[in-house]
Amino acid sequence: MKVNKSRPVNLDLQTIRFPITAIASILHRISGVIMFVSVAILLWLLGTSLSSPEGFHQAANIMNSFFVKLIIWGILAALLYHMVVGIRHLMMDMGYFEELESGNKSAKVSFIITAVLFVISGVIVW
Ligand code: HEM
Repeated sequence: MKVNKSRPVNLDLQTIRFPITAIASILHRISGVIMFVSVAILLWLLGTSLSSPEGFHQAANIMNSFFVKLIIWGILAALLYHMVVGIRHLMMDMGYFEELESGNKSAKVSFIITAVLFVISGVIVW
């Protein structure tokens, strides 16, 4: 088979950049999967806290751990990101931010809104 040797080839991964809209989309899927797994943890915690007064104290004790707070903060980050970018997605379904420029801008704004909510949620968790 004859291969055109002069065709452009780029195997230098360092020079390949995903557009911000692609990153927003991939993270949206990842945050959805994280939340799906998190529902099991949160339901277990809720069940434990509602089972009895001792169960409530057990759940409260668990929540006192720095490591658990970090995980809860991570779950909240996934939820906040998924919600903000999900709302952007629904707006795109309604016909907004469909052009390259507005799409890039709305992805950027979504990241900024998520970052602000992320900091606020950290203050609430701690
Ligand atoms: C526990 C709650 C939730 C879970 C587990 C969840 C999970 C997921 C998953 C796994 C996807 C598929 C992503 C993909 O195929 O790329 C998805 C898509 C989506 N989610 Fe959620 N989600 C939750 C809550 C929400 C909320 C609160 C919103 C509201 C803003 C939302 C908005 C969306 C939208 C608009 C899509 C479609 C995105 C697309 O078509 O690419 N989700 N969700």
